[in-house]
Amino acid sequence: MNAIALVNCEFTDRALWSRILAEADEASTQDVFFKPVVVDTIAECRDLAGAIISRIAGLLSPPASSMSLHMALRSLLDQDSRILAAAAFDMAAVLDRDPATTKALHVLLHAKGFLALQTHRFAHALWNAGQQDFALHLQSCASRSLQVDIHPAAQLGIGIFFDHATGIVIGETSIVEDNVSILQNVTLGGTGKEAGERHPKIRSGVLVGAGAAILGNIEIGANARIGAGSVVLRPVAPETTVAGVPARSLHQNRSMAPARTMDQLFDDGQPLYDVGL
Ligand SMILES: CC(C)(COP(=O)(O)OP(=O)(O)OC[C@H]1O[C@@H](n2cnc3c(N)ncnc32)[C@H](O)[C@@H]1OP(=O)(O)O)[C@@H](O)C(=O)NCCC(=O)NCCS
Repeated sequence: MNAIALVNCEFTDRALWSRILAEADEASTQDVFFKPVVVDTIAECRDLAGAIISRIAGLLSPPASSMSLHMALRSLLDQDSRILAAAAFDMAAVLDRDPATTKALHVLLHAKGFLALQTHRFAHALWNAGQQDFALHLQSCASRSLQVDIHPAAQLGIGIFFDHATGIVIGETSIVEDNVSILQNVTLGGTGKEAGERHPKIRSGVLVGAGAAILGNIEIGANARIGAGSVVLRPVAPETTVAGVPARSLHQNRSMAPARTMDQLFDDGQPLYDVGL
């Protein structure tokens, strides 16, 4: 990951954690039945990192092994600060792009795309450290519990948004750059005819519509759009919209940043975050 900086301080991990605590307090006061859910997830947590780990460990493993998974994830996070930095960008992406999500607490508790992505970040760190058995175990747990199957070796940037997320599959040699949005039932897969480097490379700012299959070692250029249900077998030029089976070019995009609901800028024209190169 490159050097990164949040332009808007509303979305630092500390700011997000303060916001989650306030939202949790309000929710617990308003709804006695929801209170135990909140307490179970965040009562013992000191910070956003702790809350993410607690939520992932609780969802992915049975109670008997949840504590050991919790400790393993904590140790990974302590060794690699980029995992938490990426989580803040990913949470910001959900809040920024999903009109149905207004609370950071809901991203932490309910957004399985966000939780699957954080699980992948741990699995990827393990994979790079040579702990491939544990990495594949995490992949399998996330696939079973969250219906999102990402190979631990796949390289994912920051500020990624998986909307709905059910059925997303991302193969081993895929690259997904920063600020990409992917809807449910999307496959970044191989054609079955190539070996080695065989999965798509999705450049920054791309929007991939629901049910699309992007197959082969092809490049989807920055800020392109892939229509729902498309089967994409050839490279897509930057800022282009393609759709259909097989996908054909429709036109040049009207928007330069489609991943953020067709506009990746704030109203004042300031980007949500910069990735320093
Ligand atoms: C591809 C997409 C971005 C195109 O948007 P657009 O640029 O506004 O395109 P238009 O609506 O002007 O359509 C242009 C042409 O492409 C066709 N088209 C649009 N989307 C298509 C798709 N997914 N598959 C096949 N053809 C499609 C239209 O029928 C139209 O054809 P016509 O010119 O023969 O009438 C949009 O249709 C789409 O698929 N978005 C993904 C949304 C999604 O996944 N939603 C799930 C939410 S849970």
